[in-house]
Formats: sequence, C-alpha cells, structure tokens
Amino acid sequence: VNEPATRATVQSEVERYAQRALGNSEDFVPGQTHVPVSGRTLAPQDFVALVEACLDGWLTAGPRTETFERQIAQRLGVRSGLMVNSGSSANLVAVSALTSPLLGSRRLRPGDEVITPALGFPTTLNPIIQNGLQPVLVDVDLGTYAMKVQEVRDAIGPKTRAIIAAHTLGNPFEADVIRDICRERDMWLIEDNCDALGSTLHGRPTGSFGDMSTLSFYPAHHITTGEGGMVAFNSPKLRRPLESFRDWGRACYCPPGEDDTCGRRFDWQLGGLPAGYDHKYIYSHIGYNLKSTDIQASLGSSQLQRLDFFGEMRKRNFRYYMDGLEDRPELLLPRATEGSDPSWFGFPILVRPESGIKRRDLIQFLDERNIGTRLLFGGDLRRQPAYADVEFRLASDLGGADQAMKHGFWIGTFPGLTDEMKAFVVETILEFLESPPS
Ligand SMILES: Cc1ncc(COP(=O)(O)O)c(C=O)c1O
Repeated sequence: VNEPATRATVQSEVERYAQRALGNSEDFVPGQTHVPVSGRTLAPQDFVALVEACLDGWLTAGPRTETFERQIAQRLGVRSGLMVNSGSSANLVAVSALTSPLLGSRRLRPGDEVITPALGFPTTLNPIIQNGLQPVLVDVDLGTYAMKVQEVRDAIGPKTRAIIAAHTLGNPFEADVIRDICRERDMWLIEDNCDALGSTLHGRPTGSFGDMSTLSFYPAHHITTGEGGMVAFNSPKLRRPLESFRDWGRACYCPPGEDDTCGRRFDWQLGGLPAGYDHKYIYSHIGYNLKSTDIQASLGSSQLQRLDFFGEMRKRNFRYYMDGLEDRPELLLPRATEGSDPSWFGFPILVRPESGIKRRDLIQFLDERNIGTRLLFGGDLRRQPAYADVEFRLASDLGGADQAMKHGFWIGTFPGLTDEMKAFVVETILEFLESPPS
C-alpha cells in the first residue's frame, strides 16, 4: 500500500492531533498530582512513526526492524542488533544462545557456572536457571550498586564459564575490567544494558564491552517501543543461535517472506529426519517465539533520535536531587562508577540504618504525597519466594545486597519530571527528615 498523497495528509493530521493531545498537561498541584518514577516521553513525531508503520501494512518484523537494529548497533558501536519483544526476552535469548551446539567447545553445558549479582531484576538471573546452568551470586557495592571486581575474580571457579550483569539503574559496572577477566579465561560476558542506554564508561557506551548486551524498550526505559528489547553483539557466530532461539528454535535462517536463503532448502539431512526434510521445519534448538513487530521498531527509531536529549534530562534531574539531598547524613546517596558518565535510570537512596529512620516510613510519607518510589528491584533475589528451591553458589557474603534490599529505594529521573515536581520531591524528603516519626 503506498498512496503518497493520502499518507502525507494522514501524517499532518496525526501530527496536529498529537501536538494538541500532548499539549494538554494539567497544572501541578503538590501532594495531589502524581509524581511517577518513570514514564514514556512521546513527541508528535513518535505518533507519526507509529501510524506510518501501520500504514505500511507490514504486521511482523521487516524493513523498519532492520533499520532500528542497525541504528542501535551503530549507536553502541557494535556490529549487530537483534530485536526481540522485551528486555527479559533479550536476556533469555542471549543466555540461551550460549548453550548452542553451533558454538562448538565454547558452548555452555548444564551445570556450567554463570556469575551474576545477587541484587537486581529477576530476568537477569532467570535465564541462567532456565538453561540448567548454575548461578553464582556476587555482592554489590553500596552507592554504586555494582559488582566489585575483586569479588568477581574470587568467584571464578573451574566450572565458571560466563558472567551476566546489569548496569544497575544506569550506573555502569566495571565492564572493561570484567571483559578482560573474561577474555583471559575464555568466559562469556553479557551486559544487561536494559537500564543504561546512553551511559558511558571511559568514554565508551555501556553495551559495547561484552560478547553480547541487552536492552529493554519498556516505557520506563531510556527509549521506548512499548514492549520491546534488543540483543547487541559483535561476533557473526552468535547470530544464528540468537535468531534460532528467538524464532521457535528453527534451523532455517530465511528472513520473513523468503524461502531458500541457504539454497539447500530440500537438501538437508539433519538429526533423525528423512533426507530432504524442508529446512523451514527443521529445529536445531529448543526455542521460543520472542519476535517483535515493525510498528515497535518504527517508534524505536523515532525515539532514538532524542536519546541524547533524554540522557541530558536524566543527568540534570539526577544532579538536582544530588544538590538537594547531599547534606543529609541520614541518606547514602548514589555514586557514579569511576570513569563513568551514567544516564541514570533512577536516583537510588539508601536510608542509613544507624540514622534510626526507617525506609518504610519515608516511602510511605512520599506515597501519601503522591510521590512514586520503587525498591531496588527484587532485592537479594535469593530471598524471593520464586527461588526457594534453587541452589545458588554464593561467592561472597551478600551484605551489600542485604542492606540495599532492606534500606534502599529509588526515585525517578525520567525526562517527564518538571522542575516543580523535583522541587516538591526534595522538599518532601527534607520535611520528613526534619521530623521523622519516632
Ligand atoms: C536490569 C533489567 N533487566 C531486564 C529488565 C526486563 O526488561 P523488560 O521489562 O523489557 O522485560 C529490566 C526491567 O526493567 C531491568 O531493569
């Protein structure tokens, strides 16, 4: 379908509509207007991008997905991107790919160990367990909420073959040093970059250090596609395992709508299948369907154009909270990892236990005034009910994760926060600290 004149009319009408709809923000009323922790930041061109993709009539992943994958790869400075339907799917596909027989002796096998921080989001950890691998938990540093390099070194045992770790709340872990450690020992590194698109470490984008890195485009994240995610990677050897796990486990690697990319569609003899069994229906992995659509990708490309602006806003909001709260001895404020320039996903605060103040009282005080807060995701994940039957190897004591789980929380830094909102947040926290409940 291509009707340039009609398209142009639709486009300008959509733009007009979006300008009006987005312009209708209500006045901020302290205590009444909700101050969220996160939210998508849409502009008229995002609505146009969505509608344009709908008008293509292309309902699955297609040319717009290829473009978005290329744009993300370029942005990160890696060779390739592979779009999926969420950040969790990106982690699942990335870890699963490492178990592929296509990787020969470097493939991970059941029981092989994978190091990951104890504190974080569950779907960084889950794919390790889902693939029959052995999770090895390391602690996090309070303030940066990143793994400590020495603890990672100490955690490595004879069966340790990979590390997957998130740049928590946008603050990088020392991915350059960890990558070198992995290279020395022939281990894989996956950066969960879901919360950190736009962050840099020693001038390089996070997500460009590991063998693979993952992104989430859920509305809370730096850019959004609604639901959506991406695996970014360099080695062409990873493409087929990644695509296969994403696309039902199939052996065939034809793009949608094509039939004989390998030129041998009816000539394969694999497994116990009859000779010449159609390659389209040969499965080389126990896979999933985690594919996304061109409509999502179109929004992604549009949003990506404003990533730098979003990042600047996040940094500005972060600095505002830092300036407003830094004199308070009751709070441990966040600290950027040395050599990094984080695009903060949120502003983590640890209520120092020795202050006598309870986190619960503070977040309840904020909640009553309509200020949103979040905990540091699942905390020490080992303690979540879902993992009651999972055997973890603990590489260190998990004192940092424990403290962060008991006393930490975060407030938003997303671009949609207004100056009035931020001022009210700081004012409210200071008000609480001046007269906390006894
Ligand atoms: C570190 C981290 N990894 C993975 C995810 C999962 O992303 P998604 O919600 O797109 O599945 C999140 C979600 O916020 C996250 O914070």
